[in-house]
Amino acid sequence: MRDTSSIARKPRVDTKDTPPPARPRPAKAPAFEAGVAKDEYLALCERVHKVSGVDLLQYKRQQMERRIRTWATRRGTPDLTAYTDRLASEPAELEAFLDRVTINVSEMWRHPEQFGHVEKTILPELAAAGPVRMWSAGCSYGAEAYTLAAISRSAAARADVSIKGTDLDGRMIKRGRQGIFTAADARLAPRDMLRRHFDPLPKDGWAAKPELKRLMTFEVGDLLRMPIREGGHELVFCRNTVIYFNQEARDALHERLVKSLRVGGYLVVGTSERVSNARELGLISPFPFIYRKTS
Ligand SMILES: C[S@@+](CC[C@H](N)C(=O)[O-])C[C@H]1O[C@@H](n2cnc3c(N)ncnc32)[C@H](O)[C@@H]1O
Repeated sequence: MRDTSSIARKPRVDTKDTPPPARPRPAKAPAFEAGVAKDEYLALCERVHKVSGVDLLQYKRQQMERRIRTWATRRGTPDLTAYTDRLASEPAELEAFLDRVTINVSEMWRHPEQFGHVEKTILPELAAAGPVRMWSAGCSYGAEAYTLAAISRSAAARADVSIKGTDLDGRMIKRGRQGIFTAADARLAPRDMLRRHFDPLPKDGWAAKPELKRLMTFEVGDLLRMPIREGGHELVFCRNTVIYFNQEARDALHERLVKSLRVGGYLVVGTSERVSNARELGLISPFPFIYRKTS
C-alpha cells in the first residue's frame, strides 16, 4: 500500500528522497477571499490548497471542474461539498485525487522534430559558447529530461552539460530519479540512441545508463512559486504543462522561465502553445515553438 502520510503538507513532496523545498510566497496569492460567498468548486479549491499547497485556481476552470466532478462521481461521492470533506479527512483519497488532476502523460523523443532541431542546431551552438544548463520544467517522470541528456552526449559532448527536471508531483520526480522507461515510453526513440544510452531491461523497457544519470538532477517544485535563478539556464523546455493553466498563470510562468534564461538562451514550448507576450519578453522565434532570448 502506498504511504499517504506525506500528503497533508505544503507543497507536495516525496519526503524520503527530497529535501524540503524552499517555500517562497506565491507570486500572487490565490484568489480566495474570506467572507465572500463561494460556490462549491471554489470551496473545494480552497480546501485542497490548504491541505496540499496545490492551487487549482491556476488551471482552466471548465476543464478542471469537469475532470473533478467526473472523478468524484467515480469515487462514489458525486456531491462536491461532500467530496471536499472527504479530501480533507482521507489522506489516501487526497493523494488519489492529486494524481488524477495533475496529468503526467509524457514519452521520450516526444515531438521528435523539436529534439532534432535542438540536437542539430541549438546544442552545438550553445556548447560552443560555454556550459549548457538545461531545465525540463514540468518534467513528469523524466522522459523529456533523459531525451535531452541522450542527445547532448553527442551534440554537446565536450561541453559542461547539466539537466534539471522539476515537477509538482513528488511521485513523478521519484520515478525521474530512477530513469526507468517502458517500451511504450521509448516508442519514438531512435533505436541506436536507445541502445547507446539505455540498458534493456530483462522483461521490457529501458534503464538509463549511469553516465546519463550523472548529468541529471530532479526536484519537486511548483513552477509558479519555486525560486528561479535569473540567467541560470541556456535551454529551458516547458512543454504540455501550461495548456492546463489559465492565461494569467501561463503569462506569469513564461515570464519566469524567460527570466531564468541567459541572453542567447532558448525556450522550447509544446506544439500547441505560444508565448503570448514574446516581443515584450525580448524573444524571437527562429523555429516553430522555439524562442531565443535576445535581450
Ligand atoms: C503532460 S505532463 C508534460 C511532461 C513533459 N513536459 C512532456 O511534454 O512530455 C505535465 C506535467 O506538468 C506538471 N505540472 C502541472 N502543473 C504544474 C505546476 N504548477 N508546477 C510544476 N509542474 C506542474 C504535471 O505534474 C505533469 O507532470
